[in-house]
Amino acid sequence: MNQEQILTAPRNPTFVSLRKLPAALWLSLLIVGQAVFAWYIFALYTQPFTSGDNTIFNRVLNNLHVPDQLLANFSIALHLFGGAVISIIGPLQLIPAIREKALPFHRMLGRTYVITAMVISIAGMTFILTRGAVGGIYMDVGFALYGFLLFSCAVQTWRLAMAKQMQAHRRWAIRLFALGMASWLYRVEYGFWGIINGGLPGHDSDTFQGSFDIFMDFAFYIPTLIAVELYFYVRERFSDTAKQVALIVSLVVLVPSISLGCYAAAKGWWLPAIAG
Ligand code: HEM
Repeated sequence: MNQEQILTAPRNPTFVSLRKLPAALWLSLLIVGQAVFAWYIFALYTQPFTSGDNTIFNRVLNNLHVPDQLLANFSIALHLFGGAVISIIGPLQLIPAIREKALPFHRMLGRTYVITAMVISIAGMTFILTRGAVGGIYMDVGFALYGFLLFSCAVQTWRLAMAKQMQAHRRWAIRLFALGMASWLYRVEYGFWGIINGGLPGHDSDTFQGSFDIFMDFAFYIPTLIAVELYFYVRERFSDTAKQVALIVSLVVLVPSISLGCYAAAKGWWLPAIAG
C-alpha cells in the first residue's frame, strides 16, 4: 500500500472505537464523579432552607454556619451553590458532541462556568477573610492561592475569548476546568488515601492540621496544574502514537485510582452526610 492508499483506506471501525475508548472512559468518570459530588452539595446544603435547621450546615465541617456572622454565612452558602453548578457544567463542556453540534449551548455553558468560577472564588476568599478556614493558617493560604488562581484563569479565559484569540482562550479554559474540578479531586484524594491506608494517617479531623492535611492544602491543585502543562507539552511536541500511549498510561494508572477515591468519598462522607 502506498501513502495515498493508506490515507484513503476505510478504517477498521473496531480500531477507531478502541482509539476513542480512553477519552470516553475519562469523560464518563468526570461526568459521573462530579455529578455525585454536585448531588451531595445540593442534597445536603439545601436541607437547612427547607427544615430551618442551620446546624445542618456544620454536619461535615463544623464552622460553615455561625449565628449572626451574616457575611461569612452568606458567602459560604453562595460558594456551595456555585460549587454544585460548576461540578455539573464542567464535564459537559468536554463532551465532543455538544461542542460540535450545539455550539450556542456550549458557549452559554462556558459563560456560566466562567462567571460561576469568579463568584465561587470571591465568595470563598470572603469566607477566608471574615471567618478563616477550619484548618487555620495553612488552609487559609492554600485555599486563598487556589481561589486567586481560579479567578485569574476565569478572567484570562473570558478576556481571550473577547479578543478572539481562540487558541490561547482554549488553553486557559483547560486550566480553568482543571482548577474547577480540583475541589472534587481534593475529596477524592482523601478517599483514596483512606482506602490505601485503611484509615487517614496525617489527618486531624478537628484541626485539619495533620501532616497530610497541610500537604493537601496545596496538593489538590498544584499537581493538577502541572499535569495540564505536561498535557500541552506532549500534545504539541510528540507524535500521535506517543500521545495515545500517554493517554492509555493515564487511563491505567489514574482512572482506577480516581474512581476508587471517588467511591470511598461518596460511601464514607457524601452519602452518610445526606442521610444525616
Ligand atoms: C471550584 C469548585 C469548588 C467547589 C465545588 C467547592 C465546594 C465546597 C464545598 C462542598 C464545601 C463545604 C465542605 C464540604 O461539604 O465538603 C466547601 C468549603 C470551602 N471552600 Fe470550596 N469549593 C470550590 C472552590 C473553592 C475555592 C476557589 C476556594 C477559595 C477561595 C474555596 C474555599 C473554601 C473554603 C474556605 C471552605 C470552608 C472550609 C472551612 O470549613 O473552613 N473553595 N467548598
